[in-house]
Amino acid sequence: MEKLVIKGGKTLQGSLRISGSKNAALPVILASILVDGPILYKNVPRLRDINTTNKLLKILGCPAAFTNESGNDVCAEAKRLMPEAPYDLVKTMRASVLVLGPLLARLGQAKVALPGGCAIGARPVDLHLKALERMGAEFELDSGYIFGRCKELRGADINFDFPTVGGTENLLMAASLAKGRTILRNAAREPEVADLANFLVACGAKITGIGSDTLHIEGVQSLKGCEYSIMPDRIEAGTFMAAAAITGGELLLEQCPQEELSAVMAKMHDMGVAFSAKPEGLLVSGTEPIKAADIVTKPHPGFPTDMQAQLMALMCLAAGSSTVEETIFENRFMHVPELNRMGADIHLSGNKAVVRGGKKLAGAPVMASDLRASASLVLAGLAAKNETHVQRIYHLDRGYEHIEHKLNAVGAEISREKDPDAPA
Ligand code: EPU
Repeated sequence: MEKLVIKGGKTLQGSLRISGSKNAALPVILASILVDGPILYKNVPRLRDINTTNKLLKILGCPAAFTNESGNDVCAEAKRLMPEAPYDLVKTMRASVLVLGPLLARLGQAKVALPGGCAIGARPVDLHLKALERMGAEFELDSGYIFGRCKELRGADINFDFPTVGGTENLLMAASLAKGRTILRNAAREPEVADLANFLVACGAKITGIGSDTLHIEGVQSLKGCEYSIMPDRIEAGTFMAAAAITGGELLLEQCPQEELSAVMAKMHDMGVAFSAKPEGLLVSGTEPIKAADIVTKPHPGFPTDMQAQLMALMCLAAGSSTVEETIFENRFMHVPELNRMGADIHLSGNKAVVRGGKKLAGAPVMASDLRASASLVLAGLAAKNETHVQRIYHLDRGYEHIEHKLNAVGAEISREKDPDAPA
């Protein structure tokens, strides 16, 4: 196992290019199952989760791979499709459950390991299954697997109880090749869902209402391969905004998806961070003292749960008390005890946290527990005096492309080292 060793207290300055979005790339590449002919994906981030996606697609008979050692192009083409997504892969990446809709649409059957819970919550897939049942699929849960079958998928009028991101994506894919018209109401409006819809349209799908909470999909007979560029990663961009602010620095973010970050930028603006649009990108200035703020996580366009942990790190330095309410996941506060070990003063009560700011953070050995919690520990380490050792960074490698190289290029001092003390 590896750890990151961060020598804190450096002010970040310079330009960073935002990578392609992990949460857009995963469903878009998995959608290759639906398509006849080769697809070339551009701007794909080189991440562990993308490698897992490529492995899973290979097993399903739809080989996908980066076209060279270091670039960001992935090619994929569905060949002889197979219906089984094994537990070994699904357990390492919950997004694997997104093959359910495409496999049912293409093969009329699917056997996908039940993803189970993870560090941030139980994360059931009941809403995916209920909606696919409305389209004519039948499911059986047995021996840790979801067995799905259908004679054909038929268009249906579906109203989600909650605007689930993965559920909306699974149904968008299934409905694209279903017979007749599907309406998805109370659909997730996350930009990554729109990116998937735009990809499907580029392949010949008929989808309207993209970006809204009501999607209309007219099923087509087949989809054709195309070239598609993945949208930039709004959560990586938001994390770098927080990095500028927490170090009192200034970063120019190239390819920053500003519109998709409006809730995050509005909150950071309230906290004293300044933004200005430049021809080359978005300039983020964190040179003013940080002010306290209150956030409540909500589905898009509300404040994203994926930026909650990073803003909490920033709140530790703010003058005054801040509050955070997490409404999307039931257990997304694993960063709290670790931040407290670095000198933060955060009290948890149920799904609410009170952050008493104005603290000086001090480096400590800390343990990453999930992707965004890990990012918040890296941010805290950038601001802390002395060295912070972030253990279990495989979480970070799932979602941030070359994070230490990127941050070092703008003045951070971070090294990746073998971790002889890694907990089992
Ligand atoms: N939920 C259900 N039943 C379902 C589906 C969801 O109860 O059938 C609940 C979940 O348990 C959760 C909430 O609804 O409490 C939100 O789940 P959603 O389906 O919207 O999220 P997801 O598709 O599992 C994606 C991202 C997450 C991001 C969330 C919310 C991907 C691969 N993952 O997850 O990203 O936090 O949407 O925006 O796109 C991350 O990148 O760190 C990450 C966790």
